[in-house]
Amino acid sequence: MSEPVQTPQTFPTRIFSGIQPSGGLTLGNYLGALKRFVQKQDEGIETIYCIVDMHAITVWQDPAKLRQQTRELAAGFIAAGIDPARSILFNQSQVSAHVELGWIFNTVARMGWMSRMTQFKDKAGKNSENVSLGLFAYPALMAADILAYKATHVPVGEDQKQHLELTRDIAAKFNNDYGVNFFPITEPVIEGAGTRVMSLRDGTKKMSKSDPSDQSRINLTDDTDTIAKKFRKAKTDAEPLPEDLEGLKDRPDARNLVNIYAALADITPEAVISQYAGAQFGTFKPALADLAVAKLSPITRKMSELMQDTTEIDRILGAGAARANAIARPIVDEVYDIIGMIRSRQI
Ligand code: TYM
Repeated sequence: MSEPVQTPQTFPTRIFSGIQPSGGLTLGNYLGALKRFVQKQDEGIETIYCIVDMHAITVWQDPAKLRQQTRELAAGFIAAGIDPARSILFNQSQVSAHVELGWIFNTVARMGWMSRMTQFKDKAGKNSENVSLGLFAYPALMAADILAYKATHVPVGEDQKQHLELTRDIAAKFNNDYGVNFFPITEPVIEGAGTRVMSLRDGTKKMSKSDPSDQSRINLTDDTDTIAKKFRKAKTDAEPLPEDLEGLKDRPDARNLVNIYAALADITPEAVISQYAGAQFGTFKPALADLAVAKLSPITRKMSELMQDTTEIDRILGAGAARANAIARPIVDEVYDIIGMIRSRQI
């Protein structure tokens, strides 16, 4: 594969990221993504956040539910601190540049690259003959989401790292094939203690909205009692918390709870350990549950308030889409020119 011919430094800093409306928000989405989206916005960087409904339909979605989940996710973004005046917040299907560039990237990406995507293999499992073609092509559309804005930085959780490497490969191959310095080689931004929040039932598995066990995850819509109960019942071992991080090395369940605490409290896992060294889980779990409730319940409350007025949510998404389109349209038009398409339509 060719070396990147371009460095991100030559492009103005612009952040893009997305979340699928394929279920409710989990604590993993919040700590790995949403909370950090808000931090980036508050640092004053240009931030574009997308509810990726076109990605969601790569597996079957009930139309009424998809609409509901899209609005709920928009409410989640705003409740967590995304300000639609400062960030651009919209749903993907309202900006056709994404799928247009996605198709072009289907012609740039190689079958071999796509076949190596571990998320596809995980999702398709033994059923790979029967999943949608869209699920296979998904990472090319994801590259298009990012590059339609020439985004330079993409905050995500650890599980998206491979997709972002593919995005870099696609950008580099496009630049190289057409002899241009058109797309930036985007940097993944995977930082902090919450980039890989694990299942509360199995510390070696990612916390996920698609896990059949609701006990495995905290949902942003869970009430106070449910959150407390889920943490109380979280899988742990019989040892107290160790004196240092090294002591968590072979204790994935314990390490997960320490990381969650750190990410919620905005401190390092080291600081959590120094505060709770030697503590039993009987002490640590209730403290963690209290912290989670204190941080999450204002968001949950605001989300349900916002859901009272779905017309307003739709208005916000529409306004965001118009702003997103104003950036992406000229970029994708320029791509058409680069690749040799005639654009002579008057309106
Ligand atoms: P999705 O919808 O699965 O997840 C949204 C974001 O949440 C992060 N995340 C987690 N972080 C830490 N621990 C977890 N257990 C956890 N679970 C989820 C994900 O890493 C992600 O950042 N393909 C993407 C959506 C997407 C996208 C994009 C992202 C489409 N186009 C362009 C960035 C840029 C996805 O399925 O995320």
